[in-house]
Amino acid sequence: MTADFVVVANRLPVNKQTAADGTVTWTRAPGGLVTALAPVFDSQPGAWVGWTGSTDADDRPHVDGIDIHAVPLSAAEVEDYYEGFSNSTLWPLYHDVLVKPEYRADWWDVYVEVNRRFAAAAAAAASPGATVWVQDYQLQLVPAMLRQDRPDLKIGFFLHIPFPPYELFSQLPWRREILEGLLGADLIGFHLPGGAQNFLTLARRILGADASTGPVGVRTDFGTVALSDRTVRVGSFPISIDSASVAAQSSTDAVAQRAAAIREELGDPKTLLLGVDRLDYTKGIDVRVQALQRLFADGRLDPADTVFVQLASPSRENVESYARLRDLVERTVAHINGTYGTAAAPPIRYLLQPVPRDELLAYFVAADATLVTPLRDGMNLVTKEYIACRDDLGGALVLSEFTGAAMELSDAYLMNPYDPVSTDAAIVAAVTDDDAERRRRMTLLRDQVMNNDVDQWARSFLQTLKS
Ligand code: ADP
Ligand code: F6P
Repeated sequence: MTADFVVVANRLPVNKQTAADGTVTWTRAPGGLVTALAPVFDSQPGAWVGWTGSTDADDRPHVDGIDIHAVPLSAAEVEDYYEGFSNSTLWPLYHDVLVKPEYRADWWDVYVEVNRRFAAAAAAAASPGATVWVQDYQLQLVPAMLRQDRPDLKIGFFLHIPFPPYELFSQLPWRREILEGLLGADLIGFHLPGGAQNFLTLARRILGADASTGPVGVRTDFGTVALSDRTVRVGSFPISIDSASVAAQSSTDAVAQRAAAIREELGDPKTLLLGVDRLDYTKGIDVRVQALQRLFADGRLDPADTVFVQLASPSRENVESYARLRDLVERTVAHINGTYGTAAAPPIRYLLQPVPRDELLAYFVAADATLVTPLRDGMNLVTKEYIACRDDLGGALVLSEFTGAAMELSDAYLMNPYDPVSTDAAIVAAVTDDDAERRRRMTLLRDQVMNNDVDQWARSFLQTLKS
């Protein structure tokens, strides 16, 4: 069976659950990309091409409402394509070279091979004239490969992470191939106008392409790259969350009761601070714990009546830079608790495990401030989830200027994660400003998040692609 609408993403929207008796069930997976794209399938049937997340070739995932096409990956391919080229070359290069990218021809070869497999699976899943939407940095060669096979398709590409400037991107030995791969699409989307602008500059300078030079707007004023036989459009489409649904899920009595219980379990601190992230070196988890260490040391925050909860979800654990970050965070947390805590009441609580959705929403409702301090982040959906949960207008958001979200959420307590003075001041202001100021900011943040949801993101991209 083929479909008129096909999403191609590294991961499938599925979670494998194996019962004690060995029975396997597949459920719809949580997570930013899935949450963003699932509503699109509610209004039209479609197919999703992606990897199951395991190397078990016998996996046959199934999700109600979506036609699933699994792309198998061997253990060696996971190492070279996923942990290697995607997450040890592209991820650090696109995130400001926070760790040194590794440029390895053997990883590149496997990246090409796996992209070819995804393109072939997408071609097989798509009906004549279908719309195919390719997602993220793991699959940047798919648009051109797919176009070669299936010139009848409408092809969109969206990048969920930052797109770097010429000065960084041009390090990549395969820079031409990546740009040419992306230009196989009819529409290339980035979160921010700056990413779109970087792409247009690179197409001009590296490929000598006829790329527009005017400013790119948010969901408007698209850039263009004129090729010999067609024109590719380039635009900014900031992603969001299903704001109304998160707001509804978080305003139940059960969530309110759990939020109160969480505060009680933590010893009813005067100030409850929260961090929620994949354990990734881009997220600035080290930045915020080091800030707390300074604030406890100089007495600006009292460790006796402050608790910081860091919910950290393990991520890409076989990649060495992730293991190093984990060591650093765990050592710093232990040092702070050892220095400023008591045996009964350590000021930092650190969970290295994904938290169930309802529990996460209860933490958002309970927190006096959430600390989002990345050194670089394409968007950061945690910010928007936190804001959507605060229909009481309580809470405060400390937000790094180096996130995509900062462009839209300028009423947060903005901080520069590279500047300890700015970081400390933002945290202190967020917890000590009077209620009126905190409510004023949260009101403006909520207006932004409730009025710009993920449906608008998907609709604006797909309408632009079809127009
Ligand atoms: P990224 O896509 O880089 O992981 P985002 O902030 O955009 O970052 O999205 C992360 C998603 O994962 C959010 O929906 C967030 O709620 C969820 N998440 C992150 N950490 C945890 C955790 N420890 N437990 C449960 N969910 C988490
Ligand atoms: O947002 C970037 C991204 O890599 C997504 O493509 C992915 O869904 C998410 O982060 C989690 O990463 P991973 O799939 O490597 O666990």
